[in-house]
Parts: sequence; C-alpha cells; structure tokens
Amino acid sequence: MSDLMRLDRFLVLTGAAKSRSDAKKILKNGLVQIGDRIEKNAEAHVNPDSDRVLFRGREITYRQYRYFLLHKPQDVISATKDRISDTVLQLIPEADPEKYFPVGRLDKDTEGLLLITNDGDFAHRLTSPRKKVYKTYFARITGKPAEEEIRKLESGITLSDFTTAPARFRFLKSDGDESECLLSISEGRFHQVKRMYQAIGHTVLYLKRIAIGGLTLPENLKPGEYREYTREQLDEAINGSDPQTV
Ligand code: URA
Repeated sequence: MSDLMRLDRFLVLTGAAKSRSDAKKILKNGLVQIGDRIEKNAEAHVNPDSDRVLFRGREITYRQYRYFLLHKPQDVISATKDRISDTVLQLIPEADPEKYFPVGRLDKDTEGLLLITNDGDFAHRLTSPRKKVYKTYFARITGKPAEEEIRKLESGITLSDFTTAPARFRFLKSDGDESECLLSISEGRFHQVKRMYQAIGHTVLYLKRIAIGGLTLPENLKPGEYREYTREQLDEAINGSDPQTV
C-alpha cells in the first residue's frame, strides 16, 4: 500500500506535468479530477493505490514499483549499462536504467525469462538461495546423460568453488548425439547450469530459462518482447506449481 502523496508530486511522477510549477498551472486550469471532483489545490493529497485521478478526462496511474517480464534474446547482456554490448534495459524503454535492474543474470548467449524491476526486496526474495525458488532451464546438450550422471545432478555436484544444492532434472528427448533436458536449480551462480552439465561430461549447446517457480515464459512472447505484470500477478504465478512438478 502506498502512502498519501501530494497531488503536484503525483502529477510529476506520472508524467502528466513536467515540473511542480507546471503541475500548479495544470491544476489552476481545472484539468485534474480526483474521482468526480475537480481539484485545483497542489497541496491536496492522493492515495496512488486507491484514488482515481484524471488528467484531461483520462485516468493517470503511478506505481512505486513496476515489474517487467522480458523474453531475453541472445546477444544482449543482463546489465543496466554497458559500453560495448546492448543491455536488457535497452529493450524496455519505459524502465529507467538508473532505477531498474534485472533480477539475477542470464549469460549473453542464454535466452528466456528475465524479470526487470525497481523493487529490491522482490528481487532478493527470488534470487536468495535460502528462499528456494527454483529456476527451470531448457538445455540442448551433447550426448545423452546416463542414470548415474543424472543422480549426480539431482543430489549435488562439487564444482571448483562450491557444491550445488539438490536440483530437479527431467530428460525430454535424445537422438544419441544431442539431448534435450530440463534442469531446475534454486541457486544462480555464475554459469551454474553450464558448469553442472560440464561436470557430468556434457556441453550445453543452447540454454533457455523457461520458468521462475511457477511463472513460465509466455509462449506468445517473442525474444526481445516484454510484458508488464503487477506484483500480485507475479507472486501468484511464482508460488504456483513449477514445470517440473506438474
Ligand atoms: N546457468 C548458466 O550456465 N547460464 C545462465 O545464463 C543461467 C544459468
């Protein structure tokens, strides 16, 4: 729930006014309504969550925190700014890179579901290994993993710098030379999925994140496209059953 906010500040934050003095002019001209009432006082207060504010007859909204689900394409990096490569923030013009950031990282050559927000608590909840939110990756790998190797993935593998937590694995198909599999992990160390497969003797040829908890990448969202969600929508989806448990 947001706190009450002065109306002139609200008009600036929603983009209806360029500055507080501009907001005062707009108000004086009777262009702003709160519900059915024309409000001319810049010092009036509004509740951004519950008050219906109209500017020139059209509703304007302000949300303190916003959440974007991006289908990250290959060749863009999970950073806010970079001098050399394109970044995921450049794909979301409405998200100011000074304030918004990706929730965790995907490698430059990894595609798939990436959340972008300005809500640090939300991001922490999804990325902290202690919260046990499983991220599911579709991978095409070399060869075909043997039962014994799969057991290692599932129980934990000692890599050079840490031992992975138990993971969930599902074999999808193989032509002998290459296989397609799902792997869900609750951590997100650097190159973790690629390193886990490498540790059991298989190289990742293609990697795509398809889910965070029960939140799945929408099928009709193409690489480079994004969609805005509310916090409530995301929480409900993330807490739902993930692709490995259905
Ligand atoms: N694991 C990887 O190896 N790469 C990613 O991009 C994400 C998880």
